[in-house]
Amino acid sequence: MPTTNFAISGNTYAVSIDGCPEFGTGRDEILSNLNTDIVFNQPWYSKGYVSLDFLSPKEFDYLKAGLTASVKEILTEVLGIDSEGFALEKYHHFVKTNEDHFKVVSRTRDLFSADFNFPIEDMLPKFEKLLGFSLTDVDPKFNEKLHIIVRINRPKSNDYNPPHKDIYEEVDKNNYIPPFVNLWIPIAGVTENSSLPMVPESHLINESEIVRTFDGGVVEGNKYRVRMIKEWGGSHTLERAVVKDGQVLFFSSHLIHGLAINEEEDLTRVALEFRLFKA
Ligand SMILES: [Fe+2]
Repeated sequence: MPTTNFAISGNTYAVSIDGCPEFGTGRDEILSNLNTDIVFNQPWYSKGYVSLDFLSPKEFDYLKAGLTASVKEILTEVLGIDSEGFALEKYHHFVKTNEDHFKVVSRTRDLFSADFNFPIEDMLPKFEKLLGFSLTDVDPKFNEKLHIIVRINRPKSNDYNPPHKDIYEEVDKNNYIPPFVNLWIPIAGVTENSSLPMVPESHLINESEIVRTFDGGVVEGNKYRVRMIKEWGGSHTLERAVVKDGQVLFFSSHLIHGLAINEEEDLTRVALEFRLFKA
C-alpha cells in the first residue's frame, strides 16, 4: 500500500495515500505577495503565523462553558446518552465510536450560526485591532456568511486533514486567490502533543517545489476536499504551533498546515477554526 512520510516535532508518521489523486508540482511562481495575501504587512508575515492574546481569562471561560453546554446538549439529543459530568477534554469517554462521532460533528459544524453565546460579531473588533484593518465574515465573491467550525479531535484518531493550503481549491478551480486570513482558537486539550502542525515560511516556497494533488486527497482511506501536499522544498517536516488558552492563532491562507494528529493519551482536542475576509 502506498504511504508517504511526515515528521511533526520530532515524531515520524507513515501515512497511507492509497486512492489519492495524482501528485504533481505547480508553476514557477510564489503565490503569496502584497496583492494576494492580506497578512503581507503583518510583522509576522515572514514566518506566516503568530499567536496573539485576544480573550481575558474570564472571556475564555465563558466561551468554553458555552461550547461545553452546546456539545453536551448535542450528545443528549443525537446520541441519547447520559452526559452527566461531561467535559470537552473527556469527549472520547462519552462518544466511543466513529459512527457516533460523525453524528455529533455533523451538528457541531453549525453551532455558531444558531444561538451560540459568543457570536463572531463580538469577536471581530478584537481581531481587527490585532491586524490593523477591517474584517468581515462574509465571503465577497460568493456573498455567503462564513461559518465557524468547531473541530473535535479524539486522541490518536484520524480526525484531521492532510497537510494543505486553504487557497488551493479556488486557485485550481477559478484561478482566484480569496483575500482571507485563517484563525484557529484553542478551546480544550491543546498541548504540545496536540496543537495544529504548521510549516513556517511555507507560503514563500515556489509552487514548482510543492508536490501536491490538484483535486482533493485520500489519507488513511478518508476522502478530503483539500488538496493534499506531500512535499515542500524537499521537506516533509511540520511543527506544532504554540498557542495558549485565550490566544488566537492567525496564519496566512497560503501557509501549509494540517495533519493535526492528536498525540495526547487521554485528552480530546477542541478548537475553533474559521476564515475572515478583508472588508
Ligand atoms: Fe486549513
